[in-house]
Amino acid sequence: MNSFIFQNPTKIYFGENAIRYLGDALKPYGKNILLTYGMGSIKKSGIYDATMDILKKSGKCVYELSGIMPNPRKEKVYEGIHLCRKHKIDIILAVGGGSVIDCSKFIAAGTKTDRDFWHAFLVNQEECYDALPLASILTLAGTGSEMNCGGVISDFENKLKLAYSNPLLYPKFSILDPTYTYTLSHDQTTYGTIDAISHILEVYFSKPDDSNLSDDLAEAILKNIISSYFQLLSSSHDYTAKANLMWCTSLALNGLLSLGKEGDWMSHQIEHALSAFYDIPHGAGLAIVHPNYLEFVYKSAIPKFARFARVVMGVKYKGKTDAEVALDGIYALKDFFRAIGAPTKLQDVNISESAIEMLANTVIVYPTSYAKKFSKDDVKTILHACLEHKSRKYEGGLVP
Ligand code: NZQ
Ligand code: ZN
Repeated sequence: MNSFIFQNPTKIYFGENAIRYLGDALKPYGKNILLTYGMGSIKKSGIYDATMDILKKSGKCVYELSGIMPNPRKEKVYEGIHLCRKHKIDIILAVGGGSVIDCSKFIAAGTKTDRDFWHAFLVNQEECYDALPLASILTLAGTGSEMNCGGVISDFENKLKLAYSNPLLYPKFSILDPTYTYTLSHDQTTYGTIDAISHILEVYFSKPDDSNLSDDLAEAILKNIISSYFQLLSSSHDYTAKANLMWCTSLALNGLLSLGKEGDWMSHQIEHALSAFYDIPHGAGLAIVHPNYLEFVYKSAIPKFARFARVVMGVKYKGKTDAEVALDGIYALKDFFRAIGAPTKLQDVNISESAIEMLANTVIVYPTSYAKKFSKDDVKTILHACLEHKSRKYEGGLVP
């Protein structure tokens, strides 16, 4: 296990009707609130009314920034920065999924600097020295943004989707009410689930692979995510399954599972290129890219991949070599994603072979745990593999 320093300062209010804590949680902050949200789901679901009711009763002065789109754009961040300065905002309250929370994180940081937020933070990865306080009410389980200090913003004009993290961007508190995710569509639940699985695998499949608690925890959380997801297929309002899924997805990317591990994140880098050019949901891109990336690197860590196949994917392994079992596990993951209705090849999201060169050229590559000399040519190889959903015979797996 590598050495680490760990601190996660986000306070979590978890459970049905956890919004009742909102008034008290906001007491330490000033009167002026910027309420940020997306394209209208919170108005349809009633979360907007419930939030406004509490804010008004708490005597807060509320300004609004609505219309934050999935794969949030940098233009919306500038709009938010302008509102924060104009109305002397004391705290930002983001109500929504990862896109709303991410956009709000950069509004928080961008308001408190004279530098252009896009160039300073996303392009040049400069230090952030100050940020407005931010809190969130989560409505979509998946990204983990509600309990981490990272965010991703897109510049669609220049086809860039870039990430940045800084400890000042942790939400001060986040309200996690699993019932707020009842209104999600099947696809949104699926993409959020795949995103969280991908966050776990980015770290689980990285060195060191010696016995460590982070990998054990990762397996437990993966298994819970998968069983909760299956439970929701038969009963979409099952509170326990929704609650487990929500907490698992927060834990997947709140720093806990990466303690003592290197982490990889190349599948995310490749996916960001797909989203930047084609504006596809992040989880959809990951469903296509991540298993193919794993197939590209698995030979560097066969025992670990065989362990994943046995422990998480339920692959039958008696009489087989570790190498066979390892590959079976990756195909079981591909088949699982396909069975739950996620895209598994580029054409499923209308990306053709001719785009591969252009996509690969925009991916930021670096040496990873299992691919020390990873290059843009390797990205091309992986994207070519993403053109078909190959199958493989194995016993067991998650799909009956
Ligand atoms: O905009 P509204 O109307 O709210 O609708 C949203 C949106 O259309 C809808 N939705 C959210 N909650 C709902 C709901 N619909 C019905 N009922 C609800 N309760 O769902 C759609 C997708 O929302 P979005 O916020 O875009 O999804 P998600 O949470 O998956 O966030 C994706 C963004 O987060 C980034 C992704 O790259 C992407 O830009 N990520 C952020 C990370 C982080 N901050 O740590 C890590 C991730 O790897 C990821 O990159
Ligand atoms: Zn992700």
